[in-house]
Amino acid sequence: MNTVAKRSLNPIAAEPAGPLSELVLTMLAAPASESGRLQAAEAVAGLSADVAEPLGDRDLQLALYLCYELHYRGFPGVDDGWEWNPDLIAARAQLERPFGEAIENAVPAEAVPPEEVGDLLFQVEADDTGPSLSRYVETSADLDQFREFVAHRSLYQLKEADPHSWAIPRLTGAPKTALLEVQHDEYGGGRAERMHSALFAKTMRALGLDDAENAYLDLIPGPTLAAVNLLSYFGLQRRRRGKLVGHLAMFEMTSARPNRRYGNGLRRLGLGVEATDFYDEHVEADAVHENIAAYDLAGGLARAEPGLAADVIHGARALLLLEDRFARHLLAAWEAGESSLRAPLPGD
Ligand SMILES: [Fe+2]
Ligand SMILES: [Fe+2]
Repeated sequence: MNTVAKRSLNPIAAEPAGPLSELVLTMLAAPASESGRLQAAEAVAGLSADVAEPLGDRDLQLALYLCYELHYRGFPGVDDGWEWNPDLIAARAQLERPFGEAIENAVPAEAVPPEEVGDLLFQVEADDTGPSLSRYVETSADLDQFREFVAHRSLYQLKEADPHSWAIPRLTGAPKTALLEVQHDEYGGGRAERMHSALFAKTMRALGLDDAENAYLDLIPGPTLAAVNLLSYFGLQRRRRGKLVGHLAMFEMTSARPNRRYGNGLRRLGLGVEATDFYDEHVEADAVHENIAAYDLAGGLARAEPGLAADVIHGARALLLLEDRFARHLLAAWEAGESSLRAPLPGD
């Protein structure tokens, strides 16, 4: 099939990366009412069992990402009816199985005293020995590499905070209040132009990048997709609310210092406030957020629901695991003198 014909079948700016993403793209190209004849869940079940390395497998991760995006803004030209289509949800469950198992295997369960969750989160952060992407970006990245970094992050940061908001209706009392205190800032504190996703879009424009959601999806490798998918994997199921909260807490705790470095990197490259605003905002905001998220939100949830304490720490460790893999991918590509994307950005 030539590319033009494939494009006309596929309203999403991504080519299949293998049989799993091809199946999902084929579903999404049709009206949801035709799902029955596609028998995708059975096909996905057979294929996903063969995925050797789920956390890096671009085909699996792209297929999952396409399913998850239907719960946010969807894709232009894709039938909204797919969001809760039972055949698509069944296929998604088959895609989630190897992903979830790989995370469970990499992050073993541990016993966690509920009253120690806040302190333990800071201990986990202090013990993290992953490579420092932010230090490299601050001191050494060139402009092309910074633009690549932003293209990777655009998958999450153009919908920043949305996946964690799935926790709102699933919490009550003090942890819910703490979550909303953080999210209120993420959403701009009542000013649409200060929403963190809007600040990120401004950074993209300042770097000459397309700020449309998923504009660079076709260039994004497996480890980046896995890190974004983790959020929706935790967020879309109430039973994973403890993990989602742990993910958010660690996200906030590991934000202020790296974002200061990213802003410094942009200044070193000669860029101004239009580009740095997003990063500078996080230096201020997340110094406050980290304590609210660790003690009031995560610690508060563990006190309210002690059975979730281990999940909170698990979610935090899973974030660090996938961020570590993401950082290693970028640094290894740049060290080898290559693009960290699947192909260089247009205009490079
Ligand atoms: Fe933010
Ligand atoms: Fe924050």
